[in-house]
Amino acid sequence: MAKAYEFIDHHHDVVVVGAGGAGLRATFGMAEKGLKTACISKVFPTRSHTVAAQGGISAALGNAGEDDWRWHVYDTVKGSDWLGDQDAIEYMCREAIPAVIELEHYGVPFSRTPDGKIYQRPFGGMTTRYGDGVAQRTCAAADRTGHAILHTLYQQALKHGAEFFVEYFVIDLIMDGEGTCRGVVAWNLDDGTLHRFIGHEVVLATGGYGRTYFSCTSAHTCTGDGNAMVLRAGMALQDMEFIQFHPTGIYGAGCLITEAVRGEGGYLTNSEGERFMERYAPHAKDLASRDVVSRSMTIEIREGRGCGPNKDYIDLHLEHLDAKMVMERLPGIADIAKIFADVDVTKQPIPVQPTAHYNMGGIPTNYKAEVICPTEENPDATVRGLMAIGEAACVSVHGANRLGSNSLLDIVVFGRAAAIRAAELVKPNTTHKELPKDAGEFALARLDRFRNAMGSIKTADLRLEMQKIMQTELSVFRTGQTLANAQKRIRETWAKRDHLKVSDRSLIWNSDLMETLELDNLLHQAVAAINCAAARTESRGAHAREDFPKRDDKNWLKHSTVWVNRDGTTKLGSRPVHLNTLTDEMESVPLKARVY
Ligand code: FUM
Repeated sequence: MAKAYEFIDHHHDVVVVGAGGAGLRATFGMAEKGLKTACISKVFPTRSHTVAAQGGISAALGNAGEDDWRWHVYDTVKGSDWLGDQDAIEYMCREAIPAVIELEHYGVPFSRTPDGKIYQRPFGGMTTRYGDGVAQRTCAAADRTGHAILHTLYQQALKHGAEFFVEYFVIDLIMDGEGTCRGVVAWNLDDGTLHRFIGHEVVLATGGYGRTYFSCTSAHTCTGDGNAMVLRAGMALQDMEFIQFHPTGIYGAGCLITEAVRGEGGYLTNSEGERFMERYAPHAKDLASRDVVSRSMTIEIREGRGCGPNKDYIDLHLEHLDAKMVMERLPGIADIAKIFADVDVTKQPIPVQPTAHYNMGGIPTNYKAEVICPTEENPDATVRGLMAIGEAACVSVHGANRLGSNSLLDIVVFGRAAAIRAAELVKPNTTHKELPKDAGEFALARLDRFRNAMGSIKTADLRLEMQKIMQTELSVFRTGQTLANAQKRIRETWAKRDHLKVSDRSLIWNSDLMETLELDNLLHQAVAAINCAAARTESRGAHAREDFPKRDDKNWLKHSTVWVNRDGTTKLGSRPVHLNTLTDEMESVPLKARVY
């Protein structure tokens, strides 16, 4: 069956899959170090989801008041509800400073202070002196920081001669019999040809799985393709139950309204006009961490204090702020609010609701971006030839809840770390070992299966079914009952995978087939997330169990790991959290109650 296809082979030192901020930072870093680098992307690089990141990138530059990278470490560990690996967090927060200065030198057009320094604004959970004051740590290019960074990184990648393969969809990894990753199989969407990209290192920078949800801030392309490839190759994902809801998605539309609105002085009210965050987080108020704000909003709505005719949203105010400042620092928000909510932000509040936004879980890696596949003997065992970065990866620097603006930081720091590690591991132009005889057959069989799917269920209908399950059962709050429902419902949905109908058999611009392959990827991750959430009987960060409302460090201070079998069943495990920091310049942050 698979013999009907022919491959075009490409040999590179390194193969990067994904051209968002993480993929591009790795790509150009590797090319800069003399490695022959391929970057494969299913969309044009500057359309990757990083382009939608708004509020900024964190780094303790201290341009707007005192700051210290150690305070950033403290905030990130606390934000993670102690599930983050403290060695990796130290690496990220310390490296933030040179990484952002590098971005400035590469040409990112940051907003400026009156004395010409990079402009920095407050963001949720970011403090000075280990929780005492409010830090202004988030470096911004107005409210289009991701756009500015993505375009600059793409230009750098072109400048350093990286080779781009644009609108190629990667189907699966090529693994050899010794468990080493040797490359990937990709489908050129434009002419229907099939390709094997062979590299000494493959870097997955494929983003998150936001589109498992009905309403999310993620682009339609966020289908977690790399995560699903890892599962199909028999490796584990980590902490999949930790899914962040951003407090301020536009009501109904789900588009992001940046946390920078609250950083610049905006605030939330309920139907009684009350600034309710003062009750839930008396110290940080509207700038508490996202899980806390999203839960508080949900409680307000549930208890009948939501706004609007159906009492199902919260008002976000900026009409009291200076209109000139709003137009200068938040111009994108003013546009988005007008287009998607018909609101003039200088006159009216924006209706908002918590909306699925970010996946803390993903492919386990160490802080050098090497993929980990835990074994009984070694929970930190690495996989040869495979790296993961960005939202696809779980380093884990975000633990159970990510702080706003630590995501752009994560992609830049670990994209750079992957380039550094690849240069240590790979000598430019080293000959490739012969591929196993069946290299690529697994991917072809999968392509063939869905290309010839002759059932009766449309991909869009099955996707909607999955998205409704995730939206209703795996939301801001969870219970044993909602999770048991989710397990039952997702089993039924998975079974329908065998009855999908793909009507177009062509390999040229066959969006039906591509969306079906993406749906298959999403289903793997929905199954993983639901089963991990059902197993974790505690509340930590974004995983809020109403039947287990407390954090349980005795039993659950550990990362969840999950394997998904071919039949959609799962195997669950765990690995220890790294509670140690990386160097003696920072002591580890001891466990304590997490209050804002
Ligand atoms: O609110 C925001 O601008 C989002 C930032 C982030 O998720 O880091």
